[in-house]
Amino acid sequence: MEIATTVAEARGFIRSWRSHDLAIGLVPTMGYLHEGHASLIQKAREECDRVVVSVFVNPTQFAPNEDLAKYPRDFAKDVKLCESLGVGLIFHPSPEEMYPPGYATYVEDPKLSENLCGRSRPTHFRGVLTVVLKLFLILEPTRAYFGLKDAQQFFILKRMVTDLNLDIALVPGPTVRELNGLALSSRNSYLSEEEKKAALSLNQALTLAKSLLRSGERQTATLIAAMKGAVAAEPLVKLDYAEIVETTGLSLIPEVTGEALVALAAYVGKTRLIDNFLWEGEDKV
Ligand code: PAF
Repeated sequence: MEIATTVAEARGFIRSWRSHDLAIGLVPTMGYLHEGHASLIQKAREECDRVVVSVFVNPTQFAPNEDLAKYPRDFAKDVKLCESLGVGLIFHPSPEEMYPPGYATYVEDPKLSENLCGRSRPTHFRGVLTVVLKLFLILEPTRAYFGLKDAQQFFILKRMVTDLNLDIALVPGPTVRELNGLALSSRNSYLSEEEKKAALSLNQALTLAKSLLRSGERQTATLIAAMKGAVAAEPLVKLDYAEIVETTGLSLIPEVTGEALVALAAYVGKTRLIDNFLWEGEDKV
């Protein structure tokens, strides 16, 4: 397995693979890899000739008041996991390599970033789109893999790929959960044991909304009120949002008539966690 820390080094490996017509699968990450990342890497291994994992805690997707400095990092452990999963290249650049002095260009999608996480993190998706486009241009993947725990991110990236005519297939991977239902996230490492228990209320609220949908409820106000109630029952958790949007423009909808994204974010103590499910229509979920 190769490790590249500069754009030039990474390009060397990529160019030689591309010259042999090898399909490259990219799994972009911020490191501190967990089972969710591992499942994306495994999928990429099955579908591509070479797998590249980027490990980069991207400063432009954190607001000044957020957790950039304390975001968990364990590069040595990430390297071991990638090695064991058959990754061909880890791209692990420094912030200066990705954003040298004078850096000024950003990609944004104000429409799809309006609701859900975009409301409380107004510059977040601009940072995500910018870094992912840079990673695409540096690493030239055939396919790129993203987890659906960040469903809004996935839909916004799909929009970018379409709008900018990028010849890259985006592949979603399902949210991986602990047995108790807690969605895996690098940020779970911030939680105390008590907070971990309290955090189960996020998935419980979503499960409640899903069962109401299954029993025929379609009014989003009713579904949202039920989710708010489930989260409010847990004193350690403070809801940021519970919203239901359609999956093309990510606009809020009064009624669920087709595919919809049911999503929420909440503070568990000081840690902000997100979770969601995709409602695909009548019998599909
Ligand atoms: O999902 C993430 O970990 C990040 O947002 C990503 C896609 C690696 C961009 O920094």
